[in-house]
Amino acid sequence: MQFDHTHDRSSTYAFKWEKYKGTDILPMWVADTEFRCAEPIIESLHARVEHGLLGYTLPAQYTPANLAVASWLGRRYGWQIDPQWLVWTPGVVPAFNVACKAYCRKGDKVIVQSPNYPPLLAAPALNGLHRLMVDTLCIDDRWTLDFEQLERHASDPDCKLMILCNPMNPVGSVLRQQELDRIADICVRHNVLLCSDEIHCDLILDDKLQHLPAGAHSALAERSVTLMAASKTFNIAGLGASFAIIPDQDMRKRFTSAAAGIVPWVNVLGLVATEAAFTQCDDWYESQLVYLRDNRDYLVQQINSIDGLSTLSPEATFLLWVDGSALQTENVQSWFESKGVGPSPGADFGARQFARINFGCPKSMLEQAVQLLQAK
Ligand SMILES: Cc1ncc(COP(=O)(O)O)c(C=O)c1O
Repeated sequence: MQFDHTHDRSSTYAFKWEKYKGTDILPMWVADTEFRCAEPIIESLHARVEHGLLGYTLPAQYTPANLAVASWLGRRYGWQIDPQWLVWTPGVVPAFNVACKAYCRKGDKVIVQSPNYPPLLAAPALNGLHRLMVDTLCIDDRWTLDFEQLERHASDPDCKLMILCNPMNPVGSVLRQQELDRIADICVRHNVLLCSDEIHCDLILDDKLQHLPAGAHSALAERSVTLMAASKTFNIAGLGASFAIIPDQDMRKRFTSAAAGIVPWVNVLGLVATEAAFTQCDDWYESQLVYLRDNRDYLVQQINSIDGLSTLSPEATFLLWVDGSALQTENVQSWFESKGVGPSPGADFGARQFARINFGCPKSMLEQAVQLLQAK
């Protein structure tokens, strides 16, 4: 029931709602949800604010949050980490940019898959590096990576880093053991380090699938940085708290050195919220997965019944990657907006004939979007 509730965010300066303010377009783009946080998160934040002193807090010394992450990774993924492996960052975006600075020198090459979350596509150039693109292929109705292209790029002696996105945004695939093994094998043979953006990993919608953290893979542990956060799963992205898991001491040192003086400490409310999310919100979390699964199934079915649109069912995330090439229009984004629905433009992800719809919202909002899209 809690996920059915609609909330007015118009006075909150929410990024998602500001874009279409003053129009009739339903914002279904940026990747936060329309769900109110779980009560334990809100109560923990209240309690911390009530204390009234909000001075500097060193994340590495905030033991309850570090233990909460370690316990969550153990329970969810069977990954036993040493809390000392954690490096907190005020977002996953700064973290993969720090990885570019830490592990590459000007002019080196970095592998990035495509289509992809725009800041991931932008990271190499922002850091004076060359980008090597690995395509996403549709094989047997599932999106996966072009592993032959990956092998070719990794074998370039100037290629020092791969930034992976798993689960994949925007296509929603979850890497299988065999696929991660293949990535590990390629990285090891060609001496490429891996930075794995796993921000969506707690949102696996297919209950037969299990997320496999890169850093938990025996061949990758010593050559990887795994990036995670409670932000997407628990709708606390505005609090800016995420963490890198870096088992190798030397890699950890290089990462913290590259961040020094540029990347601020995670703010105390982000630590409080992450701790509460990972220790007190299992019921809310499980209920949200059920709700998202239902939304996904409904939206996939409806989108595939609309002339000109097609999609595959995402295995994870609350994001649907919709192919609008059969619309025969120059501008797929404008087509959606003319119908009154505002997805993320596929062009930003590197595929202009697509659009990405956020289904992390009350079912009533999805139904409204579908009705708008079906209208002649
Ligand atoms: C793959 C991916 N990485 C990172 C982010 C954002 O990370 P942050 O807000 O923690 O910087 C997003 C948000 O949509 C994302 O989809």
